[in-house]
Amino acid sequence: MSLLKQKLAGILPDQIKDIKAFVAANGDKKVSEVTLAQAYGGIRGVKALICDTSEVPPDKGLIIRGKELGEITDKLPEEILWLLLTGELPNKEELADLQADLQSRQDVPTYVWNILNEMPSDSHPMAMFNTAILVMQRESKFAKNYNDITKAEYWEYTLEDSLDIIAKLPAIAAFVYRKRFDKGARIEPKAGADLGENYAHMLGLNDDKGAFANLMRLYLTLHSDHEGGNVSAFSAATVNSALSDMYYSLTAGLNGLAGPLHGLANQECLKWVLETMEMFGGTPTDEQIEKYTWETLDAGKVIPGYGHAVLRVTDPRFTAFHAFGLENCSDDPVFQTVDRVFRVVPEVLKQVEKISNPWPNVDAGSGSLLYHFGLKEFEYYTVLFSVSRAIGICSQSVIARAYGLPITRPKSLPTAKFKQLVNG
Ligand SMILES: CC(C)(COP(=O)(O)OP(=O)(O)OC[C@H]1O[C@@H](n2cnc3c(N)ncnc32)[C@H](O)[C@@H]1OP(=O)(O)O)[C@@H](O)C(=O)NCCC(=O)NCCS
Repeated sequence: MSLLKQKLAGILPDQIKDIKAFVAANGDKKVSEVTLAQAYGGIRGVKALICDTSEVPPDKGLIIRGKELGEITDKLPEEILWLLLTGELPNKEELADLQADLQSRQDVPTYVWNILNEMPSDSHPMAMFNTAILVMQRESKFAKNYNDITKAEYWEYTLEDSLDIIAKLPAIAAFVYRKRFDKGARIEPKAGADLGENYAHMLGLNDDKGAFANLMRLYLTLHSDHEGGNVSAFSAATVNSALSDMYYSLTAGLNGLAGPLHGLANQECLKWVLETMEMFGGTPTDEQIEKYTWETLDAGKVIPGYGHAVLRVTDPRFTAFHAFGLENCSDDPVFQTVDRVFRVVPEVLKQVEKISNPWPNVDAGSGSLLYHFGLKEFEYYTVLFSVSRAIGICSQSVIARAYGLPITRPKSLPTAKFKQLVNG
């Protein structure tokens, strides 16, 4: 048995006992109320979901298992996976065991390459990536064993599927890049490389100094989890609550990530930055950025990379990417524009009353870093986000199955019923 599985088998029973006792003693206590505006407003702020892997306080941003981002930006994605699942960072032996386990699972079935090769050449990279995951559903150990296992064993098979998937995603994502953008033949994984390094290697971009591999490690860490109520995590959790296996659940979540208000915003964001540069013939001045920001808003469009449904401060994930940019590509004109946009846009958005949060989110800066290293096809950026977010979505699903959370089923009402409720 892997050390990760042993660790979880050791800690989960007490956690489950504790939760059962907590709910039994306090089940009738009120934890949230719902207003009509919330019901018609995307259920914002209603506290009705459980997520023990991470939380996002509006005034702080992402905290993974009690650790603020600043404490863990130097960790490998594998360490973050262990942290999300167990609540602790792995020691050296545990990390090595997890890495060896993932490496033993990284071979992708040949039919995946065949199916990707047959997809139309103008397919969106997200459609290709999600197709590849979904077509592997026949490999699900949860689905294969479902009739023979008890509810108490569900988490073990969900973990098996999760590790099988996470191990394969860098190779699949890298192939989607090389195939979709005519970059040449598939590159085999590098023996002994960690997830981020291997992903960078298989993408096939020039990385003499290893800085791009570092960016991939950071990227996979920063996007991994963002509590339970965002579209991708919530969609995946809902599907998983029906005991659909990880292949079905993860693709459900990632299909949500493909939306322009969620993960696709990172491709939109760099597009907007480059448009600004093109319009003004190079790195624009603060005044020019301000002008273009107002033009975008007046045209009824959003400024991609700014605003957030929950956060009310600069996203600490943006801060981490920004710091990476200052260290690795401060003389790059695209990064310089992002830096200037960061100075100007919040001041403009603050003047628009309806906007709750004028500050940058995770997507505002990451694209310029990828661009700097030659990853210039922004349609691809959401796939990178997906490889990372899969780590959090899978971790949340393992925990949900361990807790035995039931099928998700909130109550909906027709507008006429809400009118009756409000008017009495
Ligand atoms: C992330 C986002 C979807 C959050 O939406 P939200 O929770 O409804 O945010 P708000 O409460 O601030 O929205 C209130 C209004 O301000 C607008 N708004 C919010 N952020 C805005 C932005 N960056 N540019 C322009 N308008 C914005 C909304 O579109 C909404 O307008 P509407 O009432 O006419 O529909 C929104 O900020 C957005 O579209 N940002 C740009 C896209 C993006 O970066 N997405 C990635 C998120 S990680």
